[in-house]
Amino acid sequence: MASNKKLLVLPGDGIGPEVVGEVRRIVDWMDKRRHVSFDISEGLVGGAAIDAHGTPLTDETMADAMSVDAVLFGSIGGPKWEKLPFNSQPERGLLRLRKEMDLFANLRPAMVFDALADASSLKHELVAGLDIMILRELTGGVYFGEPRGIETLPSGERRGFNTQSYSESEIERVARVGFELAQKRNGKLCSVEKANVMESGVLWREVVTSIAKDYPDVSLSHMYADNCAMQIVRNPKQFDVIVTDNLFGDILSDCAAMLTGSLGMLPSASLGAEDPSTGRRMALYEPVHGSAPDIAGQGKANPLAEVLSFAMLLRYSFDMGEDADMIETAVGNVLGAGIRTADIAAPGQQAISTSEMGNALLKELDKLAA
Ligand code: IPM
Ligand code: MG
Repeated sequence: MASNKKLLVLPGDGIGPEVVGEVRRIVDWMDKRRHVSFDISEGLVGGAAIDAHGTPLTDETMADAMSVDAVLFGSIGGPKWEKLPFNSQPERGLLRLRKEMDLFANLRPAMVFDALADASSLKHELVAGLDIMILRELTGGVYFGEPRGIETLPSGERRGFNTQSYSESEIERVARVGFELAQKRNGKLCSVEKANVMESGVLWREVVTSIAKDYPDVSLSHMYADNCAMQIVRNPKQFDVIVTDNLFGDILSDCAAMLTGSLGMLPSASLGAEDPSTGRRMALYEPVHGSAPDIAGQGKANPLAEVLSFAMLLRYSFDMGEDADMIETAVGNVLGAGIRTADIAAPGQQAISTSEMGNALLKELDKLAA
């Protein structure tokens, strides 16, 4: 069926193709059962693109990503490509997508499904009902700052260096997304930096503070990143929305992911600015987990982070909140029924395969749609 919903699917490496495969089954289900169809194209990224084209992202795939409504991404990287020169490694493909699509706002929700509260490494009462949102700045900071490199000093010793840099406008645009998210949630925004050590942190705090007046209904607090890491494992429910820079957001989101029981549970949405004339925004959706080369190709991967990323795609790129809710409910029900992939199985509990998890989701969706 012809569709005006254009999707580019980039499964990538490792477990990427397996977990994306389960989303494709849900897409087919939606086509049949909900009469919602997508115009899907598929491309290569990361190691798969290196093997086929000698580069982690071709210009054609980059152009495709810019032209569709949303990109669904799997995962990239693996030992096969680790020895390549730094600038040719799989990760460059993902970083190029983020930068050229200008996806500055990375939403990483950490939600604990009731059935998984015991799979967390923290005590049940600390994580039960947890629902926090980490908003990570994604196109600036030390990931992209210049100058960067490895140089040889006159002494013959080498020096590696990177630059942490944030302009006022870069801080402001992500902070505004943070305030807006807080307005739709519980009205609390915690801005995280290291203003005690870094000038970029001083400016970050100043800018966030100065725009807070536009959001009188949001209560703003500030925290140093090291303290935030500690607070996330001490008492995570104190947070609602956390807004932070690219590197701190990378670290804190992995940390928050573990609260949910497994890195295999955490979805993310990376969004660009809304075009004021068309209302369109570029977007890429990906699980927070990596390519897990140790279990790739064995049918052991947990597809839920990818499935939940697809739910975010429906919600943020197509305003299909009802369908997104249905998928999230299906995930909750499947977990509630004790169905587990190995990463979230309790000791002694039977673990099922990636595709069996997909089967269980489809069955649950059938029930919910009936
Ligand atoms: C993430 C990943 C990436 C990052 C890697 C794969 C480049 O860890 O999305 O969190 O560091 O941003
Ligand atoms: Mg990371």
